[in-house]
Amino acid sequence: MLTRAIPSSNEPLPIVGLGTYRGFEVEPSSPAYKQLPEVLSALFKKGGTVIDSSPMYGRAEQTTGELLSIHEPRSPAFLATKVWTRGREEGIAQMEQSFSLLQTDRIDLMQIHNLLDWQTHLPTLREWKEQGRIRYIGITHYTPTAYEEVEAVLKAEPLDFLQINYALDDRGVEQRILPLCRERGVAVICNRPFGGGGLLERLKGKPLPGWAAQVGVTSWAQLALKFLLSHSAVTCVIPGTGNPRYMADNAGAGFGPMLTGAQREQLIDIVR
Ligand SMILES: NC(=O)c1ccc[n+]([C@@H]2O[C@H](COP(=O)([O-])OP(=O)(O)OC[C@H]3O[C@@H](n4cnc5c(N)ncnc54)[C@H](OP(=O)(O)O)[C@@H]3O)[C@@H](O)[C@H]2O)c1
Repeated sequence: MLTRAIPSSNEPLPIVGLGTYRGFEVEPSSPAYKQLPEVLSALFKKGGTVIDSSPMYGRAEQTTGELLSIHEPRSPAFLATKVWTRGREEGIAQMEQSFSLLQTDRIDLMQIHNLLDWQTHLPTLREWKEQGRIRYIGITHYTPTAYEEVEAVLKAEPLDFLQINYALDDRGVEQRILPLCRERGVAVICNRPFGGGGLLERLKGKPLPGWAAQVGVTSWAQLALKFLLSHSAVTCVIPGTGNPRYMADNAGAGFGPMLTGAQREQLIDIVR
């Protein structure tokens, strides 16, 4: 899989990862849970590493930790999770629990979920980064109404990552946020790359553009992800799924040529 450098460290990061919202919020007794080892294998086999979770996603951190602890060979996961609560002590307690649920003593990326009480959590994150407990610091959001605040924090604070909503039919971040991330040297993770699934529903049944094979694409999901990855400020996409077939499909977007400006425009027209 292709990689992009994390601007703050130059470490290469595989460009397609996995979101655990909903797909990993399942009980061990359920048939859905039994499919999840295959989801991880589909990610790792293609060279992907990034797995994104949050204490907001029910059982997802616990499920991720359980499955990675039994995964063979030793998991190459780049673990990203979040703090999502108010108060310094509450934030510390929640993050300690994430270490425990994920069964790890190091988390690659700790993000402040939806900027909730970010001024309080940021000093803890900086301290833990210094101590090596976490490797990178980030913030996340998912909605245009938050862009003003996201922009202000990006300008005021040195950060390694921004995780933000970006999809073929949800391109508000192109105006100011993505250029700002490039200027500030902040890696960008795109969440909700299929708008929660709605984008793919809209595209279902439409023929792929004639040039899809030339860019190594065989599905609308791959094309929707490659659209995002073709933006020079984007570092990684994290489509959510608990389905091994979908994971393999999505990972396919991490290979081959990116889209030209004209190809991107054509896709925008199709969903307009
Ligand atoms: N504020 C935040 O920090 C924030 C907010 C939102 C999301 N996130 C993160 O971003 C991740 C992605 O967002 P999301 O999960 O909300 O939405 P999404 O990735 O835009 O869409 C997920 C939906 O797409 C479907 N899907 C995935 N791959 C597919 C494929 N190849 N073909 C057809 N359908 C496919 C999934 O189906 P199945 O469920 O059937 O697999 C699921 O219904 C989350 O999992 C989470 O980690 C963070």
